[in-house]
Amino acid sequence: MRHSVGFDDEFSDVPYCQDDIRNIQDIVCEKCGYSRDRLSKTLVYSRVSRRVRFCNFLDFSTYIKFVTSPTGVDELDRMIDALTTNVTGFFRENHHFKHMNRVVVPELISRARRGVPVRIWSSACSSGEEAYSIAITILSAFPEAHSCDVKVLATDINTEMIDIAKTGMYSRYKVEKLSDDTRRRWFFPINEHFSVVKQVKDIVSFRRLNLLSNWPFSRDFLVIFCRNVTIYFDEDRKNFVWSRLFSCLSPGGYLYLGHSEKIPEHLLIAARSDSCPTTYRKSVK
Ligand SMILES: C[S@@+](CC[C@H](N)C(=O)[O-])C[C@H]1O[C@@H](n2cnc3c(N)ncnc32)[C@H](O)[C@@H]1O
Repeated sequence: MRHSVGFDDEFSDVPYCQDDIRNIQDIVCEKCGYSRDRLSKTLVYSRVSRRVRFCNFLDFSTYIKFVTSPTGVDELDRMIDALTTNVTGFFRENHHFKHMNRVVVPELISRARRGVPVRIWSSACSSGEEAYSIAITILSAFPEAHSCDVKVLATDINTEMIDIAKTGMYSRYKVEKLSDDTRRRWFFPINEHFSVVKQVKDIVSFRRLNLLSNWPFSRDFLVIFCRNVTIYFDEDRKNFVWSRLFSCLSPGGYLYLGHSEKIPEHLLIAARSDSCPTTYRKSVK
């Protein structure tokens, strides 16, 4: 039953009721694994009301009927895009890239030179900075990665972010924290923006993928980055995703999580605990 209609509190634009907010929370929890406390009423209202207006609906309830109908599937994806949090940056949590450079890259080079395919997955890549940081870390130490079978797969549920990532173009603000050397070597200026160089783009491919849906690959990944995404999931979804990530890692493979994420130790042996606490390694056997 509708117990409060919009215009009743701090919001005064698109009419809504509490059930509308709850329905949207339910849809997003179901589709993307978000726990309800990550989707406050303020966040849902402010982000979805823009979609309601953009689609020329008069209120939330008509919009919800549309996104849950067969003709609204594309708009449902746009609604999910609007509700994801996409904060990211080049070399974010830089200790992971230092660890990768010191520990993983030598192993990667040895595998690649023996002709073994090397696969790395940035599994919630947002607008691509994480994936390009991985590629730059590899190419800085191993320029021949190009001529070997070394690939970075980068995926995210958010289509808009994947489209930005594919362009490889970033604002000055996004690259200004990089060292001059890194910026000069791996980016070039173009129309007030900076573009990642072709050499880097060539080893990265982007795709839309929901971590809770089917994964259309059964790769042996040497490295998986799954950072700052499971924080939004409820416990069941976290465990579900982690056990699947575990099965996609090759023996001895590495998993990097975000600073407040922690995988159960029975799945992985912590590779390091002090200087790099969110780095895990799958057992070799
Ligand atoms: C805060 S960003 C983290 C980006 C990057 N990993 C980093 O740490 O800088 C979280 C990303 O997870 C994505 N995401 C949320 N739910 C997802 C899901 N179910 N499947 C795949 N990606 C998801 C969001 O779209 C967003 O781009």
